[in-house]
Amino acid sequence: MIQIAPSILAADFAKLGDEIRAIEAAGADIIHWDIMDGHYNPNLTFGPPVIAGLRNATQLPFDAHLMVTNPDAIIEDVAKAGCQMISVHVETCDPKVTLPAIQKLGCKAGIVVDAKTPVEELLPYLPLADYVLVMTVQTGYAGQKMIPDCLEKMKIVRDKLKELNHAIPIQADGGVTPDTLKLFLDAGASILVAGNAVFKSGDYAKAIQQLKS
Ligand code: DX5
Ligand code: ZN
Repeated sequence: MIQIAPSILAADFAKLGDEIRAIEAAGADIIHWDIMDGHYNPNLTFGPPVIAGLRNATQLPFDAHLMVTNPDAIIEDVAKAGCQMISVHVETCDPKVTLPAIQKLGCKAGIVVDAKTPVEELLPYLPLADYVLVMTVQTGYAGQKMIPDCLEKMKIVRDKLKELNHAIPIQADGGVTPDTLKLFLDAGASILVAGNAVFKSGDYAKAIQQLKS
């Protein structure tokens, strides 16, 4: 099953409630929140208070992708804000500590490998994770082109999960469009994060359908 997770980073920030209701009506499966602190990468986005303020706009699960230098300091607030899924970068924490801490908060725990990081750094933590996110652009901004090398990393993750007999979903994040879609699916992705492909499409339902078909 393919799930589409529109990334709020590409939404119109002047009307976030309406945007969230619109993507739910359009067939989105998960709401993807890119939390950035201005340190891990140069962008600074939103945090738990903004997410909590939008929790009642939809029934869909909230997935927080933490691009912050100290995720351990905020996971509790992110869970309390209403996120059911929280993913952390292998570059920013000790996953042996942080993934169980997320699970203890009642959330699914995701492990992320950045585009610039060798995939080998992620592999030891796969058994601890409920899902895995492979960045396919440099973190920071929506609307970038997918980096083809990252697809190779995704295939290595897919093969490793098979070898471990650990059937967890792989999220692809960055540069997902109708044109690149097949490459992501072939590499093993089943949750597609999509920023511009949804929010800059002009027709959310059509864009989401196109990605699902
Ligand atoms: C980048 C974010 C992505 C981004 C994806 O740091 O993690 O979620 O919003 O946007 P698109 O789909 O436009 O590449
Ligand atoms: Zn993201």
